[in-house]
Amino acid sequence: MVSLPNSTRVHILILWLILGLSDFSKACWVNSTCSGPLEPSFPGPWEKNIFSPSSRIVSPKRALNADKGFHANYPSHSQLKSNGSLAIYDFGQLVGGLVSINFTAIGNGSIGLSFTEAKNFTGFVSDESNGGSTPDGALLFEVSSQSPTKGSYSTPIEKLRGGFRYLSIFTLTNSTKFEVTMESVEVNLSFQPSWPNLRAYGGYFHSNDNLLNRIWYASVYTLQSNNIPPTTGRAWPAPDNSWSNDANLGPGSSVLVDGAKRDRAVWAGDLGISIPSSLVGLGDLESSKNSLNILYINQNSNTGELPEVGPPISFFGSDTYHMATMIATHDYFLFSNDTEYLESIWSSYIHAMNFIISKVDNTGLLNVTGTSGWGRSASAAGYSTIGNMLMYGTLKTGASLAIWMNDSNLAKGWEHMAAKLKTTINSPSYNWDSDAGAFKNSNSDQSIFPADGNSMALSFDGANASHLTKVSDHLSNNWGPIGAMVPEMPGTISPYIESYEIKGHLKIRQTKRALDLIRLSWGWYLNNPMGTESSTIEGYNEDGSFLYTANEGYDKAGSYPSHAHGWSTGPVDALVNYVVGLEPKSPGGATWTLAPQVGDLSFAEGGFTTPLGKFSAAWQIKSNGLNLQYDTPSITSGVLCLPLDSSKRIFVDGIKQRAKPSNISRDLIEISLPGGKHTISQL
Ligand SMILES: *[C@@H]1O[C@H](CO)[C@@H](O)[C@H](O)[C@H]1NC(C)=O
Ligand SMILES: *[C@@H]1O[C@H](CO)[C@@H](O)[C@H](O)[C@H]1NC(C)=O
Ligand SMILES: *[C@@H]1O[C@H](CO)[C@@H](O)[C@H](O)[C@H]1NC(C)=O
Ligand SMILES: *[C@@H]1O[C@H](CO)[C@@H](O)[C@H](O)[C@H]1NC(C)=O
Ligand SMILES: *[C@@H]1O[C@H](CO)[C@@H](O)[C@H](O)[C@H]1NC(C)=O
Ligand SMILES: *[C@@H]1O[C@H](CO)[C@@H](O)[C@H](O)[C@H]1NC(C)=O
Ligand SMILES: *[C@@H]1O[C@H](CO)[C@@H](O)[C@H](O)[C@H]1NC(C)=O
Ligand SMILES: *[C@@H]1O[C@H](CO)[C@@H](O)[C@H](O)[C@H]1NC(C)=O
Ligand SMILES: *[C@@H]1O[C@H](CO)[C@@H](O)[C@H](O)[C@H]1NC(C)=O
Ligand SMILES: *[C@@H]1O[C@H](CO)[C@@H](O)[C@H](O)[C@H]1NC(C)=O
Ligand SMILES: *[C@@H]1O[C@H](CO)[C@@H](O)[C@H](O)[C@H]1NC(C)=O
Ligand SMILES: *[C@@H]1O[C@H](CO)[C@@H](O)[C@H](O)[C@H]1NC(C)=O
Repeated sequence: MVSLPNSTRVHILILWLILGLSDFSKACWVNSTCSGPLEPSFPGPWEKNIFSPSSRIVSPKRALNADKGFHANYPSHSQLKSNGSLAIYDFGQLVGGLVSINFTAIGNGSIGLSFTEAKNFTGFVSDESNGGSTPDGALLFEVSSQSPTKGSYSTPIEKLRGGFRYLSIFTLTNSTKFEVTMESVEVNLSFQPSWPNLRAYGGYFHSNDNLLNRIWYASVYTLQSNNIPPTTGRAWPAPDNSWSNDANLGPGSSVLVDGAKRDRAVWAGDLGISIPSSLVGLGDLESSKNSLNILYINQNSNTGELPEVGPPISFFGSDTYHMATMIATHDYFLFSNDTEYLESIWSSYIHAMNFIISKVDNTGLLNVTGTSGWGRSASAAGYSTIGNMLMYGTLKTGASLAIWMNDSNLAKGWEHMAAKLKTTINSPSYNWDSDAGAFKNSNSDQSIFPADGNSMALSFDGANASHLTKVSDHLSNNWGPIGAMVPEMPGTISPYIESYEIKGHLKIRQTKRALDLIRLSWGWYLNNPMGTESSTIEGYNEDGSFLYTANEGYDKAGSYPSHAHGWSTGPVDALVNYVVGLEPKSPGGATWTLAPQVGDLSFAEGGFTTPLGKFSAAWQIKSNGLNLQYDTPSITSGVLCLPLDSSKRIFVDGIKQRAKPSNISRDLIEISLPGGKHTISQL
């Protein structure tokens, strides 16, 4: 080693720091504050399942012929000759951002680019995204040269395409001589804009079931593709042709929207699933907070109503989405302990609570009058089960927030209303149907037993204890060979509603049932070679086509549904908080529960990161019992919940423990645990 004078060392160090920092800041999206993590919280072999590339610049994996058959691995110098010649570039997974191509051309004509998420829709036009009645079409540019000439093209910023796997490139010409040799194709990824390292996840999940592992990582990748620069929202009203992704959604560097391709807007109902999964999977507080904030700053200041969707669409009129925002506010605070933000919106939150409480009458039930929502074809009006289970969840989580804000009177009032609502909704004179063993669509509509309301009855704890197993059984009767069909939208499979359903089964420890539904539905899509094989779809049909809501506003070809939709990512927090079993119980995770659910798995582990630090747990089934390890910030404390088994003894760090019966269930026992790193066995 050469010895350097100290001053040189300092200079080298400074140079290294400057280079290092500029390297990282370049890795964030232009114009974004580079505030994301540099390193993953939990490095390990599970990182091989991460779909995110390490660089924002990615190339296709292969090129396909016009008939969608394999042509060559990339780089492939595809030749396009004369009119209507087409090559399909396959990135092998979902990507999104700006495309650049280099080519050599001779002759006169146009080169076209079209984008699709599914393999089904590759060709001369893109899949639908603009939200209007005209097709998205293709991006075209003209080329004219007498001799072979190099050329290049980059998509202008407003033509950014937020979600696609396939890029079709083609030639159009009226002349006989037009030849294009494609030399290179790249995408400059625009999602998760404030992260210098797209693989620096705050959470992780791993188990002996590789399908579950892949589903977890596809779900987290979906969330990343939904965290977008707020200046790249979808234009609204829809342009007359093509598409524009240059709408301003609101303040911040990164916002969590509903989908990568579309709508690229802050839809409130979606946040009910995407915020808790994003917090656990990514630990991305910024995007979740910015999305909530966009809804609060656009609140109707007279009535207290929160938007159904933020700017530029700015619809109002959904009581269910109003409540989803309020529950997601709780989820954000529980995870972040962001007291400063909660204090800043607390009066708006109370205003929002009073808005919805004003629709509760003397029966104790919410009369839903803002009937817009997730697109179900059955009405959500009146004393609907979906509305009332959300109301129950809103009041209960609101009471927790009020306690954390030191307002115990407010909390008492909301708890009291929640208890009254629960009694009424569970009564056979109102929404409970004893014969079906499920909740009706509403007190006055027993034509269906909706999957959304019944799933939420379990996940928000709005069902009487004696109804829980019946509801879980009833929900499982909706399952077909590729997922759970929702009676409130016949023929449809909705991983959004299934996200509530799996959490509902897990809440009452129907573990195997939840795992089976994840494998059935998310597994079907992830293993479908026509899809992205890397993300979670908005919805699909029971016949296995992508024709989600084709007859209710979406395009009839089935190309409008989003194949990367955050509302379908429920497995992320479900697998970590319930199956691994580690769940924050007070702000920042100061207290937590460790309640593993093994189902048919032999081992599982996972973790998440809050501002307090890293939380992780792992368990393995052994021939003589269960082994557990956990590691949480030392200032925290928790409660271990395990199934009652009087033949076994429980040891923490080798010391035998006295368990007490759990308040969750008679079949569980509880032991208080300290923070830090410890091992447990039940032998
Ligand atoms: C990616 O695109 C952005 C926006 O046009 C640009 O500023 C940045 O330089 C591009 N990155 C690379 C590596 O080309
Ligand atoms: C970055 O900001 C500049 C200045 O506001 C703007 O002109 C440019 O289009 C922005 N780039 C992107 C990729 O948004
Ligand atoms: C060129 O090909 C396109 C796509 O197949 C077709 O629509 C168009 O009619 C063709 N034009 C000519 C001049 O043949
Ligand atoms: C196109 O060529 C230019 C100049 O050689 C190069 O800087 C750029 O990275 C190339 N773009 C692609 C997409 O390969
Ligand atoms: C291409 O167009 C130019 C005029 O734009 C014309 O001069 C030239 O003859 C055309 N070449 C061919 C091969 O058609
Ligand atoms: C082909 O000719 C038609 C009719 O003149 C014109 O509208 C079209 O733009 C031309 N196509 C190309 C690719 O030059
Ligand atoms: C709910 O409110 C609407 C509008 O005020 C009213 O027409 C309807 O009868 C109410 N429904 C119930 C179940 O009270
Ligand atoms: C609530 O009270 C506790 C104890 O006095 C205090 O530490 C905490 O900061 C208070 N929280 C808020 C949001 O005011
Ligand atoms: C269940 O619901 C019924 C009907 O509302 C109610 O009367 C009863 O008290 C509830 N039972 C329990 C155990 O909560
Ligand atoms: C996609 O296309 C394939 C092949 O044409 C077809 O079998 C399948 O039904 C389509 N899939 C969906 C999900 O639309
Ligand atoms: C939560 O935030 C409050 C206010 O910033 C702070 O006093 C408290 O210590 C935090 N709690 C934890 C567990 O970090
Ligand atoms: C059970 O209740 C006790 C007393 O209210 C509480 O300290 C404990 O944390 C609860 N256990 C769980 C797992 O919530």
